[in-house]
Amino acid sequence: MNWCLFFVVALGLDLAMAGSTYDYYRLPTALLPKKYNLRILTHLENPEDLKFSGVAQIKLEALQNTRNITLHSKSLLIDDSKITLTQVNGEKKDNCISSTEVNAVHDFYILNACQELEAGNIYQLTLPFEAELNKQLQGYYRSSYQIPETNETKWISITQFEPASARLAFPCFDEPGFKAPFVITLGFHKKFTGLSNMPVREIRPHETLPDYVWSEFEESVPMSTYLVAYSVNDFSHKPSTLPNGALFRTWARPNAIDQCDFAAEFGPKVLQYYEEFFGIKFPLPKVDQVAVPDFAAGAMENWGLVTYRETTLLYSAEYSSLANQQQLANVVAHELAHQWFGNLVTMKWWTDLWLNEGFATYVANLGVEHIHPEWRAKERESLNDLLTTFRRDALESSHPISRPIQMVVEISESFDEISYEKGSSVLRMMHLFLGEESFRSGIKSYLQTFAYKNAEQDNLWESLTQAAHKNGALPENYDIKSIMDSWTLQTGYPVINVTRDESGKVAKISQERFLLNRDIPHDQRKGCWWLPLSYTTQEEHDFNNTLPKAWMECSKSGESLSKTIEDLPGADQWVIFNPQLATLYKVNYDAQNWKLLIETLTKGDFESIHVLNRAQLVDDILYFAWTGSQDYEIALSLIGYLQREREFLPWKAAFDNLKLVGRIVRQTPHFDLFKSYMNKLITPIFEHLDGINDTFSSIEQQDQILLKTMVANWACQYEVLDCIPKALAYFQSWKSSPNPDETNPIPTNVRRTVYCSTVRHGSDEDWEFLWTRYKKSNVASEKRTILSSLGCTREVWLLQRYLELSFDPKEVIRKQDSTLGFQAVASSEVGFLLAKKYFIENVDQIHKFYHPLVKSIGRLLSPLSEQVIERKDLEEFKEFINHSGESLSGINQTIQQTLEIMLTNVQWKERNYDQFSRSIELVL
Ligand SMILES: *[C@@H]1O[C@H](CO)[C@@H](O)[C@H](O)[C@H]1NC(C)=O
Ligand SMILES: *[C@@H]1O[C@H](CO)[C@@H](O)[C@H](O)[C@H]1NC(C)=O
Ligand SMILES: *[C@@H]1O[C@H](CO)[C@@H](O)[C@H](O)[C@H]1NC(C)=O
Ligand SMILES: *[C@@H]1O[C@H](CO)[C@@H](O)[C@H](O)[C@H]1NC(C)=O
Ligand SMILES: *[C@@H]1O[C@H](CO)[C@@H](O)[C@H](O)[C@H]1NC(C)=O
Ligand SMILES: *[C@@H]1O[C@H](CO)[C@@H](O)[C@H](O)[C@H]1NC(C)=O
Ligand SMILES: *[C@@H]1O[C@H](CO)[C@@H](O)[C@H](O)[C@H]1NC(C)=O
Ligand SMILES: [Zn+2]
Repeated sequence: MNWCLFFVVALGLDLAMAGSTYDYYRLPTALLPKKYNLRILTHLENPEDLKFSGVAQIKLEALQNTRNITLHSKSLLIDDSKITLTQVNGEKKDNCISSTEVNAVHDFYILNACQELEAGNIYQLTLPFEAELNKQLQGYYRSSYQIPETNETKWISITQFEPASARLAFPCFDEPGFKAPFVITLGFHKKFTGLSNMPVREIRPHETLPDYVWSEFEESVPMSTYLVAYSVNDFSHKPSTLPNGALFRTWARPNAIDQCDFAAEFGPKVLQYYEEFFGIKFPLPKVDQVAVPDFAAGAMENWGLVTYRETTLLYSAEYSSLANQQQLANVVAHELAHQWFGNLVTMKWWTDLWLNEGFATYVANLGVEHIHPEWRAKERESLNDLLTTFRRDALESSHPISRPIQMVVEISESFDEISYEKGSSVLRMMHLFLGEESFRSGIKSYLQTFAYKNAEQDNLWESLTQAAHKNGALPENYDIKSIMDSWTLQTGYPVINVTRDESGKVAKISQERFLLNRDIPHDQRKGCWWLPLSYTTQEEHDFNNTLPKAWMECSKSGESLSKTIEDLPGADQWVIFNPQLATLYKVNYDAQNWKLLIETLTKGDFESIHVLNRAQLVDDILYFAWTGSQDYEIALSLIGYLQREREFLPWKAAFDNLKLVGRIVRQTPHFDLFKSYMNKLITPIFEHLDGINDTFSSIEQQDQILLKTMVANWACQYEVLDCIPKALAYFQSWKSSPNPDETNPIPTNVRRTVYCSTVRHGSDEDWEFLWTRYKKSNVASEKRTILSSLGCTREVWLLQRYLELSFDPKEVIRKQDSTLGFQAVASSEVGFLLAKKYFIENVDQIHKFYHPLVKSIGRLLSPLSEQVIERKDLEEFKEFINHSGESLSGINQTIQQTLEIMLTNVQWKERNYDQFSRSIELVL
């Protein structure tokens, strides 16, 4: 799944346990599903009564004698009296169901058989079921869109099953380990199209319902229930052909079909790349990718029927920015990577979710790079993954990549930065320390060995160890498991100290866990990570070689063994550890080394340092200044070099950090100093890029476009040069165009900046104008850009109105986008206080609004966490949480992290603010 998602199954804790004695969270293993035959009839004609009914015929093999059949079912109406059970091998005896029970905690539906099912026999179980097509964006649910000419609402149906919602659509063994082939037959009115994982085998008229048809699909390969998918819709499609002749189609509502071209071209290319990269052909005869108007996650990798939000599949040259297009490519590449990592080889249990998500995230970076090398997306995405991990995993309330999972809410909470971005970062680390050949052949043998089966991380470690030893990429006495367990079973990442002696030639290296919370003493930061050590020197400046020159090891009991490096140059030359940020750690040097680095960056040949390492130095020094292990004076003198920097990555690292400082300082009396500082820092790059003047078409290097977009956003926030007047002028020329819904003269790459600046500095009428454009727009990414800009106003009444619109049950703003509206308000300095108040006063309604997708509530908290800076406000928030009861259940992890981020802000304000302000004054 793609990460901008998050949905959760809330538990019916209020339901009785109905007497079941089996209380373990996993299904019993006495029965094995061998094949599903699913027939589902969908009714989409009456908007007041959107529903489905079906029959699940499940072939089961008994591995042990058992008296009961325990499977998953949730919110389905099942008529017990119509369930049948027959032995289908040997003498084909009829059995029956004597009674049923429900375990609501784990969604179990327990069927007690009249006669014992005997080991070795095959049975056929048939269950009829029905339910409403729900509005909660999970299970088998409804979505809709409007025909602009008539305002008519069209309904479609679609599934979203990961992680545990197949049970909402049909009774099944809903755990990733129970793989089985599926034969799916969809019934629907003949004016619709039915789609499923496999191609259609046959369409025949419905026996009794006039104008209804049955569309039967071919039998699938064995797959996990969470990958089953189907949809009934009236969409159009754009065909493309896979090089091997398989069918590849991109679907969208008819009015958006012209936005499918890019995905239709990109998808097959990246699929072909993976076939070569993994050395395994895509096993299904077709792929459909569908843009769903209402979709909780970013996208979902259902085998052969991949589903997306409109923003992650549809591309419009007139409306989408380059950043939109690249994100879209990345999401498509992510979902198609899952066709191997996740679909072909699936994790045994959700504990190893990262094997799915970390891999898809990492491999997507390679796929996009291969097809669009001019984007230079691999470096950028890799840095993004690292920066995200550095931030999230520096919290004490973070968690290991691999962790025990028992409840469905815990699975849902695992779809987070640790599974995705940290997972991706540690895979990249292995790729870089093992080298191309060992990594690829290890992965290939893992995929081949476990195809159509399930695996856990130890299986991957074994394949990679074998490949590494064969290629001599790892010392014989090392194995991948010892190294990687330190990264996947342990929370956090290390900071290493590199302290050189007076000669400069000998360095002592030590490590400890890096934490943002300054109150945690050093003896509680212990931990050991196996570190492939690579480094380069001022003279050598070879950042290409990421193979380890030495290893920092851990003892059997997990303690760090001290390490000395002895071949360094003299004290007048710097060293840099971790070329290209190959490994997930931060580095602190002695004062002399920092001094040399600052000299090169500010006065010397700064480009002799690899661009990823320039980003690393910026990020590290700002973290160390934040936690107090470096002075802000040193940090600011280092990042002063940015006035010379013309590359995206170091600026990205700087802005990520300065944003957090800015959100604190803008609530204090010294903001004017910070504002002047930001002006001084940004002006040279802003001028270099010609501000927000429309020079995009003359920019040759694509990532300079992204840099210009990012810098423009900052420049207008800090009112650098002509940014604001230029933005306002763009907007006015749009407003005065005769048909603003058809022509927009604002360059796509700065629209967000222009909209936000105008809403901030302009009039109520400008806000209204933009809101009208939102309602009329046919392009999801444009709608999204507008939503994120409407919160930029400083008018309290507009902010208040916008908050209410975001949670309006009438859904002028779709439920999937409501978090965006709230976040936009909460991120601005005026809106923050209103949003916080709104959240606290309405938490019960917000809970009901999202239920059971409570994970969305967690996303509302992140802008709030960044702006609470006073201890008393933190205490007040804690108290609120203590008293919020059920309204915040299911997001424990997010709450802990929110409170911890607030605490680190409070610490910064109390301990750094004065020093920071003085240091700023010095460099102004
Ligand atoms: C169903 O059968 C399995 C295997 O025999 C057993 O472990 C489990 O406890 C039974 N469940 C119930 C609810 O009795
Ligand atoms: C559609 O709805 C809009 C806004 O409610 C209205 O202005 C327009 O006249 C409607 N169009 C039709 C064809 O009913
Ligand atoms: C690294 O150096 C800092 C500052 O000199 C010190 O506080 C910290 O304890 C050292 N960490 C390790 C792991 O030695
Ligand atoms: C590093 O690799 C780049 C690109 O492959 C190449 O241009 C550069 O010369 C290499 N640098 C060194 C020091 O080998
Ligand atoms: C934008 O263009 C105008 C007119 O060509 C020019 O005066 C102005 O300096 C430019 N702005 C920047 C920041 O380059
Ligand atoms: C919140 O509840 C916890 C445990 O129930 C308690 O330790 C803590 O003091 C409470 N905090 C506040 C601010 O009320
Ligand atoms: C969430 O936290 C509460 C209180 O700390 C605890 O009782 C509950 O078990 C936690 N739930 C989960 C799923 O971890
Ligand atoms: Zn994914």
